[in-house]
Amino acid sequence: MSLVAVTGASGKTGWRVVDEALKRGLAVRALVRPGSVLPAALAEAEQQGRLDVRRLDLSATEALHAALSGCDSLVIATGARPSVDLAGPLKVDAFGVRDQIRACQAVGLKRVVLVSSLCAGRWQHPLNLFGLILVSKRLGERWLEESGLDWTVVRPGGLSEDDSRSEREGVVYSGPNQQESSSLPRRLVARVCLEALETPAASGRIIEITSSPTQEPQALNQWLEAAIPAPG
Ligand SMILES: NC(=O)c1ccc[n+]([C@@H]2O[C@H](COP(=O)([O-])OP(=O)(O)OC[C@H]3O[C@@H](n4cnc5c(N)ncnc54)[C@H](OP(=O)(O)O)[C@@H]3O)[C@@H](O)[C@H]2O)c1
Repeated sequence: MSLVAVTGASGKTGWRVVDEALKRGLAVRALVRPGSVLPAALAEAEQQGRLDVRRLDLSATEALHAALSGCDSLVIATGARPSVDLAGPLKVDAFGVRDQIRACQAVGLKRVVLVSSLCAGRWQHPLNLFGLILVSKRLGERWLEESGLDWTVVRPGGLSEDDSRSEREGVVYSGPNQQESSSLPRRLVARVCLEALETPAASGRIIEITSSPTQEPQALNQWLEAAIPAPG
């Protein structure tokens, strides 16, 4: 069975990626920090032996190699938590992502999905008041694009904790730099990340996502088939 690693698995998007992956019957390894608080669903899955949780500092190279060894794919859902440390985004969203990319290269893990953000790369944007976060996000994206790994960047809009929206709203997909605002539930972000892992056409693409009640639900592969002209 294919083994999916998820970093930032204690976060509000990361735990949903793990949860959705378990629901799909995938084997999952959740990577969290030594002091991370595991959300209830993951703590329960770990207790029941359905989830492999590794606690480590992601900047500890040997430990990260060990935690990623044997995994077939990685979903990166780490992100600087809002804080007074304005260097957080550079440390986590740029260099932290680079550490993870290097570890994937070292252990031969090829398939990586990165959760980034709409407007990544923008200099003039209010979100940049937190440590130029959109600039750091783009650095992480670029290092992944240039890594030689089999990558997909998922850029969500504003993230909502209201999972019930995922039953009422469809995902609005686009290519890079097409969407500026709007939001979506984290549950849908988690599903798109896992669909990307299963969809060869998602490789090498930046995919922006928001959601809307007026959008018919559409799977990522359907959107990609319609969006990408058939060869010949
Ligand atoms: N919030 C939004 O509206 C929004 C919009 C677009 C994109 N995004 C991006 O989407 C992603 C997920 O966002 P979210 O709000 O769901 O995440 P979140 O709840 O803030 O979780 C962040 C995760 O990253 C981990 N993390 C933070 N610093 C770390 C470090 N130095 N080393 C290792 N792990 C670290 C956290 O671990 P701990 O639990 O140990 O702190 C946590 O698991 C992030 O990349 C975020 O920037 C957010």
